[in-house]
Amino acid sequence: MLLKGKKVVILGGTSGIGLAAAKAFLDESAQIIIASRSASKLSDAKAMLGGNVEGYEIDFRHEEKVSDFFKQVGNFDHLIVTAGEGAMGHFSELPVAAVREAFDSKFWGQYISVHAALPYLNNESSITLTSGVYGKRPPQGATTLASINSAIDGLVRGLSVDLAPIRVNVVSPGIVDTPLYGGIPKDQRQDMYNGIAQQLPVGRVAQPEDIAETYVYLAKNGFTTGTSVLIDGGAHLI
Ligand SMILES: NC(=O)c1ccc[n+]([C@@H]2O[C@H](COP(=O)([O-])OP(=O)(O)OC[C@H]3O[C@@H](n4cnc5c(N)ncnc54)[C@H](OP(=O)(O)O)[C@@H]3O)[C@@H](O)[C@H]2O)c1
Repeated sequence: MLLKGKKVVILGGTSGIGLAAAKAFLDESAQIIIASRSASKLSDAKAMLGGNVEGYEIDFRHEEKVSDFFKQVGNFDHLIVTAGEGAMGHFSELPVAAVREAFDSKFWGQYISVHAALPYLNNESSITLTSGVYGKRPPQGATTLASINSAIDGLVRGLSVDLAPIRVNVVSPGIVDTPLYGGIPKDQRQDMYNGIAQQLPVGRVAQPEDIAETYVYLAKNGFTTGTSVLIDGGAHLI
């Protein structure tokens, strides 16, 4: 399935994996629309991507705003969602409110986005969501992300049946060097990456581009649906 001229919406396309996905779809000559909350991230991303990229300020947790956004965008071909914020912390220490907040973002944000996008997709469309390896192999302190990511994987299996012939898949990354970890001081962050890299069979953490091409593959491959693609450098084995 060629992506040339196809309209691709990337919620979360202003940073990290979503921004790299926007670049990867542009390389396929697709028409790109990116969206996230921050005006400055939007203008930086548009400057970086160049060309004819459209950008919208939107918080995907708010159903009405997401509906308005898709109404503005109109008909389109492929939906990618990489937006979402999780929460880390030991089960006995993380307040329930923080867990609910993470579900509101990473699970419900993706659910709401699919719901609102549906009227504008067509029979050849695809939807690709984002979960994470902690759904399969959580380290200590990742109970919330294990739950959210597993819920997203389940959501995708159900959607691929309910929404057929629209194809619905999910990308499940391992550790990726993105601004998600920008709050950790640089030296500490590098030590964290090095420590993880030493344990991984591939010997390094991922760059956003490693993950981005999977979204392109899933949009292009007309025979793939209901699938979770794990790209974790072997993290699920260690
Ligand atoms: N990086 C990793 O190691 C890793 C591993 C496994 C899974 N993942 C998953 O991969 C996805 C992308 O992560 P990333 O590393 O690319 O993170 P990132 O660099 O922080 O990018 C997240 C993007 O989502 C947007 N976003 C966040 N909350 C939003 C909201 N409420 N409404 C609209 N947009 C929102 C952010 O922009 P604004 O701030 O402007 O809204 C940003 O564009 C997440 O679901 C993450 O859990 C990441």
